Amino acid sequence: MKTVQTINELQNFLDSNKGKSIGFVPTMGYLHEGHLALLTKAREQNDIVVSSIFVNPAQFGPNEDLDRYPRDIEHDTELATKAGIDVLFVPPVNEMYPSESGITIHAGELSTKLCGESRPGHFDGVLKVITKLFHLIQPTKAYFGQKDAQQLAIIETFVKAYNFPVQIERVSTVREADGLAKSSRNVFLSEKERAEAIHLYKGLTISTEIWRETKDISLAISEGKRYIEQNTSGKIDYLEALAYPNLQSDFNHAEQILFATAVFFENARLIDNIIVDVKGV
Ligand code: PAJ
Repeated sequence: MKTVQTINELQNFLDSNKGKSIGFVPTMGYLHEGHLALLTKAREQNDIVVSSIFVNPAQFGPNEDLDRYPRDIEHDTELATKAGIDVLFVPPVNEMYPSESGITIHAGELSTKLCGESRPGHFDGVLKVITKLFHLIQPTKAYFGQKDAQQLAIIETFVKAYNFPVQIERVSTVREADGLAKSSRNVFLSEKERAEAIHLYKGLTISTEIWRETKDISLAISEGKRYIEQNTSGKIDYLEALAYPNLQSDFNHAEQILFATAVFFENARLIDNIIVDVKGV
């Protein structure tokens, strides 16, 4: 596996591999089995696999965890090598953002909900970096985790609306044995919080079960919230159900419903979700 830091080196590599299908996995590093599931799928489906590690300042708010976002490039390189990827693109910030053009991308209505409410500008920053990476790499397929369901919905919508020639592949959430969704931010949990954190997924499961049995969405939501409040010391940011992937609250015609939650712990804000197929329920 080749590690490159500059756009020039990246493009030289890509130029010498013209005509091959490219699978691309963008990440912010501190890789875990969730990222590995994306890399493995990309490896299976493409001639060459490119992954990026870039803690993107554009998607962090002024009071968020940009400076203390966990980093371990040596371990990441080891995992990426084991996953059999071809190129790891690890650009410094000034390589990705040498100057500001003053031209911005706005994620629009989809970014006003769920995480967008407490992270204004976050999804604009995600689209900024993804647009640049897609143009630089021109992947055949790009891989995103369902763990970040709103991000996935926004990227799918963006790519379709603006005719990016890339196929977006969804990858299911990878969890710890006890159900906690794997996340780079789990390292910020205290021991007590780590034990409590499994209740996000349990709370969501309760909501989906109540919805399946009663079709009463407000009961489903309030019971899920009550469970999380009673079983964690965290503060719920939201627990909501929306049609997926259009994130509308009217899900009469939806084929899938997203049950999503975000909970603030002392040093980490964790998110999780369950997507339920409406058909056959
Ligand atoms: P990051 O949080 O590093 O995640 C990179 C990719 O891994 C995302 O598509 C995310 O959904 C996926 N992922 C993370 N945890 C997962 C899990 N437990 N199971 C399955 N997939 C998981 O998301 C980002 O980085 C950034 O916003 C990025 C897209 C790279 C843009 O900067």
